[in-house]
Amino acid sequence: MSLWVFGYGSIIWRPDIPYTAAYRATAANWSRRFWQGSHDHRGTADSPGRVLTLVPIKGERCEGRVFEVPDSAISATLSLLDYREKNGYERQQLCVETVEVGTVEALTYIAPEHNEAWLGDAGSQVIADHIRKSHGPSGSNIDYVLSLHDALLADNIHDAHIAEIAGLLR
Ligand code: BEZ
Repeated sequence: MSLWVFGYGSIIWRPDIPYTAAYRATAANWSRRFWQGSHDHRGTADSPGRVLTLVPIKGERCEGRVFEVPDSAISATLSLLDYREKNGYERQQLCVETVEVGTVEALTYIAPEHNEAWLGDAGSQVIADHIRKSHGPSGSNIDYVLSLHDALLADNIHDAHIAEIAGLLR
């Protein structure tokens, strides 16, 4: 038995997990937003950065990547991801669509509204200005956004929210 992990954020360009296969995958009725605060990666507790979570929006689609983690690595991978995503994220199972292997039930991490680091919606310019001044132990908040935007473009994925914020930052 293997574990499928669906990535929509940094895991796309920096997986840092062992995997035997990776495919482009779509989560229907979900969309990425920079609505989650980051105290431990792209900001600090005093000055949180803005990072992605998935929000349920009917009719939208989130195009990401799904990774197949081999049985022998599942337990270590879950510990690693639980730690990496500890700032307000929760495990969630999603059904995602791939061309290569059809529908896959995959684990992802979502920061639900009202978790302790939640920032919520703001205008695009406000979000971009916030990201421009944020830095944390994993690096600058701008790098987080532009690395994802570059990775999506390389995969020919257009995401309007990411493109708008990246465009304001470039
Ligand atoms: C993500 O960045 O999309 C992600 C990170 C860890 C687990 C699942 C998804």
